Amino acid sequence: MIKVVNQRFYLHTKNTSYVFEVTCHGHLNQLYFGPKIQENDIEAVRLKHNVALGGNIQIDNKDSTYVLDSLLLEFSSVGKGDYREPSIELIDPITNFNSNFVFDSYEVIDNKPAIEKGLMSKDHPKAMSLIVKLVDLSINQTVFLFYTCYEEFDIITRRLSIKNDSKQEITVTKLMSVTLDLLNRDYTIYNLSGTWARESHRQKRKVSSGTFINQSTTGATSHFFNSGVMLSSLDRENEGISIGFNMVYSGNHYCSIQQHYSNVIRINMGINPSNFHLKLAPNEIFETPEVIISLSNQGNNGVSKNFHDFINQCIVRQPDLLKPIVYNNWEATMFDFNEEKLLRLAKKAKEIGVELFVVDDGWFSNRNNDQSGLGDYHVNKKKFPKGLQSFFGKIKDLDMKCGIWVEPEMVNIDSNLYRTHPEWVIKTPYTQSALGRHQLVLDLSNRLVQDYIIDNVSKLIDDNQIDYIKWDMNRHISDAFGSTLKHQGLFYHEYVLGLYRVLNEIFIPRPQVLLEMCSSGGNRFDLGMLCFATQIWSSDNTDPIERLKIQEGLSYFYPLSSISNHVSISPHPSTLRQTPLSTRFNVSAFGALGYELDLNNVTRVELKEMKDQVDFYKKYRKLLQYGTFYRFDLTKQNCVQWQVTLKDTSIVGYFQKQTNAVEPFEFFKTFGLDEFTIYHFYSKPQRLMIDRFKEHLHHVIPIHLKPSGFVLTQAEKYIAMEDGTVSFFVSGNALNSGIVLNNQFMASGYNKDLRILSDFGSQLYVIEREENE
Ligand code: DGJ
Repeated sequence: MIKVVNQRFYLHTKNTSYVFEVTCHGHLNQLYFGPKIQENDIEAVRLKHNVALGGNIQIDNKDSTYVLDSLLLEFSSVGKGDYREPSIELIDPITNFNSNFVFDSYEVIDNKPAIEKGLMSKDHPKAMSLIVKLVDLSINQTVFLFYTCYEEFDIITRRLSIKNDSKQEITVTKLMSVTLDLLNRDYTIYNLSGTWARESHRQKRKVSSGTFINQSTTGATSHFFNSGVMLSSLDRENEGISIGFNMVYSGNHYCSIQQHYSNVIRINMGINPSNFHLKLAPNEIFETPEVIISLSNQGNNGVSKNFHDFINQCIVRQPDLLKPIVYNNWEATMFDFNEEKLLRLAKKAKEIGVELFVVDDGWFSNRNNDQSGLGDYHVNKKKFPKGLQSFFGKIKDLDMKCGIWVEPEMVNIDSNLYRTHPEWVIKTPYTQSALGRHQLVLDLSNRLVQDYIIDNVSKLIDDNQIDYIKWDMNRHISDAFGSTLKHQGLFYHEYVLGLYRVLNEIFIPRPQVLLEMCSSGGNRFDLGMLCFATQIWSSDNTDPIERLKIQEGLSYFYPLSSISNHVSISPHPSTLRQTPLSTRFNVSAFGALGYELDLNNVTRVELKEMKDQVDFYKKYRKLLQYGTFYRFDLTKQNCVQWQVTLKDTSIVGYFQKQTNAVEPFEFFKTFGLDEFTIYHFYSKPQRLMIDRFKEHLHHVIPIHLKPSGFVLTQAEKYIAMEDGTVSFFVSGNALNSGIVLNNQFMASGYNKDLRILSDFGSQLYVIEREENE
C-alpha cells in the first residue's frame, strides 16, 4: 500500500514500512525502513538533527542543522555537502560535476510503469507504484524515481531514469538504481564470491567505517561476486532484522556499503560505474535496471523466503512449473560420443525414471574438443548419421523429452561463422582480441549478430521439436568494443540489452521450451537470466560437499526451483573426494534434479538406489522445488542442515562433513512446525553400499571376507544395507525444540538404525502431519 500525506510517502508492505518525505529544501529524506510501524511512530523512530556539527556544510544560512551529509537521502547529488557516495555522477559542459536534484512532483499508480529498455519484475494484481520526479533546473536534468510495493511479498522494487531536458549532451559516469541510507543495526554483510567450480560461497564481514564494494567487471554477473547482497543485524538465519538486495540485471553490477560518521550506512546498487560512460543527448532518456529489496525481522531466512516467493511469481517465465528430472551426458562422455553411446545412456536414464535427455557440447560441426566448431550449429554426421531429428525421435520413443546444448554468444576462430563474419566478434580496432577457452565473444550489441542468433537457435528448436535448451557462456568479455555503437561507454550495457532481445525473441514465443542457463557453471546466476531461464546450472562442481556451500550460498537470493543440481560420479573430478551415492542425491534433491554420471559404470544396486531416489523426488517434487527453505545456525561445526516445508510436510537434510570419532549426542531441531500437530518423522530409506566398509565388514556380518576378494567384489554389485532408519510420531513442539537421533557408527557394531554417516554421510528426514490425528 502506498499513501501520501503532506509530501510524506508511506510504502507499507505486509510486514514492513518504508517512509520518506520532502524536506523544506526539496530533498527526499528517508524517515524509516523497518518492521511495520504505525504512522504516529515516525517522530520517535526518525533520525534527530538538533545540533550543528563543526565542519558540516549548510545550504541554508538560517538553519545550521540542515546538513545533507547527515540526512538519509533517497537520491544523492554531488556538490552541496553530501560527501558520501552519490547516486549520480555527471559532467555538465557548463557546471561541471555539480548537481542538486530536488522534488518536483509525484504520482501514485495501481500498477507498474513499463520499462522501455531492459527487464524488470512483472506487475502483480496488488502492486502499487510511486513515481517521484526530481529536477535540477540549473542543468535542466530530470530524474524519475520508481518505487513498486509488492505488499504480500514484502518486496519493494526501485529503479530510476534520467532525462536530459537541456540543449546539450551531458555525460553521466555513475547512476545508481537505488540509494538507501540506514542507521546501522550492527549489520553483518553477506555476499557470494568464488570462481569457476567454487561459485557462490557465502562471505561475511561486519559493516565498518569505510566502504565495502561487491561488483562485477566481466560483462556478466560473474562467478567472482554475485549481485545479491544481504545485511543481517544479528547474523542469524531465523532471528533479527535482515535486508536483502538484488538486481534484475545480467551485466556489470555494483553495490557499495559505506559507513559514514554517526553510524549511518549508505547502500548504493546499480550498473557498475567502472567502464560506464553514458552520453545523453537532449531529450534522451536512460533507464537503470531494477533492484529488489526485502526486509524481514525473521532473519536471513525471512528475506530469502520473500525473495524466493517473489521470484517464483513475479520474475520467472513459467511460475509454478514443476521442473523435469534431466540426464545430461557431459560428465559421462565429454566430447566423445555418438548416437549409439547416447542411446545406451538414455535407456539407462529411462530405467531410473529420468524425464528429459540432454545432449551437451560436441554434437555439431567438427567439435570434438573445445578448439573448433563453435558458431556452426549443423549436426555432426559422424556422430549422428541420420541427423538430430532421427535421434530425438528415438528419445521421444523412450517417452523422454529432448534437450540440447548451445553456446550462441561465442565463436571459435576455427569455424565457418568466424571465417564468414570475422567482423562480428568483440574486438577493438587495432588489436587482436584475447581468447578464453579458445573462443571469442560475438558482439551482441550489434543487431545483425542478434538477428543471426535469433534465427539460428529458433530454427534449431523448431526443426527438431526441442523441449529444452542448455544455453552456455564459457568466457568473460574482454576487448570491450562494439563496432556498430555510437558511444562505446555503454558497450557492456548494450551487450546485455542485446542478449535480452535475443532471449526474448527466441523464448517468449515458445513458452513450452525450457531454458537452462549456464556459464561455465554458475558464472551468470542472476535475476535477469531468471526472467527467461527455467533454471540455472549452479556449478560444474557436482561434488556434494562442495555443493553444500554453493547451493546454500545461492539459496540466500534464489529459490530452490531455479538451482539446477546433478548427481554425478564419485570420486569427483573436481576434488577426488569419495562420497556416498545417498549424499550426492540428498544434496541435489534441494532444487531441480538431474543425473550426469556414466550410468554404464554403476552397479545394479546403485541403479536401483537411483530409481528409488527418482521416485522419492517425484513424490516430493513440488515441496523440493517450491517449499519454504530454511538454513540453520548449527553450533556443531561439521554439519549442515537444510529444511524445506510446504504446508504440512517438511523434508530435512542432515549432512555431515568430516566425522569425529565417537560423535556426541546432539539435538536435532526443525524450524517453524506447528507446535500442536503430531507429525510422522521418518528417514527416507537409503542404501548403504557395502564397499564403504571394506575390511571392516566384520562389524556388519560375523564372517571375515577378503576386501578385494571375489565374494565381496561381486556382492558389492548386488547387495546393500539399510542406512540409519528411524520412525517416530512426535509433536511439532518437540521437533522445534529438539529431538535426539540415533547414535552414529562408533566402530563397535552395526544395526540398521545406526547412523553410518562417517565422512560425508547424510540423511533426509520426512516430516508429515499424522493422517489420523
Ligand atoms: C561448461 C558447462 O558448465 C558444462 O556443464 C558443459 O556444458 C561444458 N561447458 C560444455 O562445454
